[in-house]
Amino acid sequence: MKKLITALFCSAVSLSAVAGGNATAGKAVADKYSCFACHGKDYNTPIDSSYPKLAGQHKDYLAHALTAYKRGDGANGRNNAIMTGQVKPLSNQDIQDLAAYFHSLPGTLATHR
Ligand code: HEC
Repeated sequence: MKKLITALFCSAVSLSAVAGGNATAGKAVADKYSCFACHGKDYNTPIDSSYPKLAGQHKDYLAHALTAYKRGDGANGRNNAIMTGQVKPLSNQDIQDLAAYFHSLPGTLATHR
C-alpha cells in the first residue's frame, strides 16, 4: 500500500512537472501516428463502440491514461494489447500535446450531475 501511494504521488509530481501541452503540436502528432484510424476522424466517433471517445476528454485524464499505457504492467500502469504499441514512440511532450489537442476538440462526453 505504501508503495502504491508513493507511486501515485510520484506520477502526479512527474506529470505536473511537464509544461502544458500545445494543441497544434498535438494535432501533428495525432496525424503522424494515425490515431484517428481507431478513435474516429473527429475523435468522437470511434470505429468500434468499445473504443473510447477522446474529443473533449479532460487533459489530465488523457495524459494520465497515455502515461499508464507506457508503464504497462508497472505500478499504476495499464496493459492493453492495442494501446501499448501505440504509445511506444511517444515522448512525454507528445503525450502532453496530444492531451491538449483532444481536449480542445468538441465532443459528446458529458458529466452527469
Ligand atoms: C488500432 C486501434 C487504435 C489506434 C490506432 C489507437 N488507439 Fe487509442 N485506444 C484503442 C483502444 C481499443 C483503447 C481502449 C484500450 C483499453 O481498454 O485500455 C484505446 C484507448 C486510448 C486512450 C484511453 C482513453 C480512456 O478513456 O481511458 C487514449 C488516451 C488513447 N487511446 C489515445 C490514442 C492515441 C494518442 C493514439 C495515436 C498515437 C491512439 N490512441 C491510437 C485503440 C486504438
